[in-house]
Amino acid sequence: MQAVVAHLLSLGGVHRLDRFRIDAYPDELFGVSTGGVTAPEHLSLNPSVEKHAVRYEATPPYEFRHAMAALPIDHSRYTFIDYGSGKGRVLLLAAEFPFAAIRGVEASHTLHEIAVANIARIPPNRMARSDVAAVEANAAQYRPERAPLVAFMFNPFDEVVLAPALDRIADAAARSAEPSYLVYKNPQHSEMVDSRLEFTLRSAFFAESLLVYGVRAS
Ligand SMILES: C[S@@+](CC[C@H](N)C(=O)[O-])C[C@H]1O[C@@H](n2cnc3c(N)ncnc32)[C@H](O)[C@@H]1O
Repeated sequence: MQAVVAHLLSLGGVHRLDRFRIDAYPDELFGVSTGGVTAPEHLSLNPSVEKHAVRYEATPPYEFRHAMAALPIDHSRYTFIDYGSGKGRVLLLAAEFPFAAIRGVEASHTLHEIAVANIARIPPNRMARSDVAAVEANAAQYRPERAPLVAFMFNPFDEVVLAPALDRIADAAARSAEPSYLVYKNPQHSEMVDSRLEFTLRSAFFAESLLVYGVRAS
C-alpha cells in the first residue's frame, strides 16, 4: 500500500491522491455500479432520443462535490435535478447534501433501472435527506415539480433537447423568489445557455469544463 501511495504522490502530490481516494466512492463503498462508458446506440434509447444523445459516462465525485459545496445556497431549500442521470452516481452524491428533494431524469430504460437499484442500496443514514428518486423520461419534456432548483447536466444531449430543457428550467425558476442554478459539466453547448437572458454565468471550475449559471428568479 505504501508503494501505491508513494507512486500516486510522485504523479501529482496530495491533490491527486485525494482525488483517487474520493473518486472510488460510491461504487466501492456501497457495492453499486455507476462507472463505465456506453455509446448512445447501446443505451436502448428511443431512436428519436438517441440521435440527440451523448454517450453514458459518470461525473468524477471530486468535481461534483466541489461544485455543490461552492454554490452560495442553503441546500435544504433547493430541489436538485440531474438531467440525464444514467446509473445514478450524481444522485447518490447529491444525497450527501441536504437538498429538499433529488430527482434524476433518464431516457434509457436500462440505465434508469440500474439507477433505481443503486439508490436502493444506499443506507438511509448515509443520506442527508431521503427524498431521492429516479424518473424515466425524456429531459426535453420534463417539468420540474418545484423551485428553486439546482439543475445539473454532464453534456447529456445536443441543442435540440437542451433548448426545451432550458425553457422548463427557466419557467420553474421564475416561480421562486430565490435564484436557481444550472451546473453544466463538459459544456459543449454553452453558447446556447449564454444566449438566454435568464441564465448568467456565475463561476467556472476545472479549466472551464464545469460552468455554474444563475437562473433568474421571479
Ligand atoms: C454523460 S451521461 C451523464 C450521467 C450522469 N448525469 C453523471 O453525470 O454521472 C448522459 C446521460 O444522459 C442520458 N440522456 C441522453 N439524452 C437524454 C434525454 N433526452 N433525456 C434524458 N436522458 C438523456 C444518457 O442516456 C446518459 O445516461
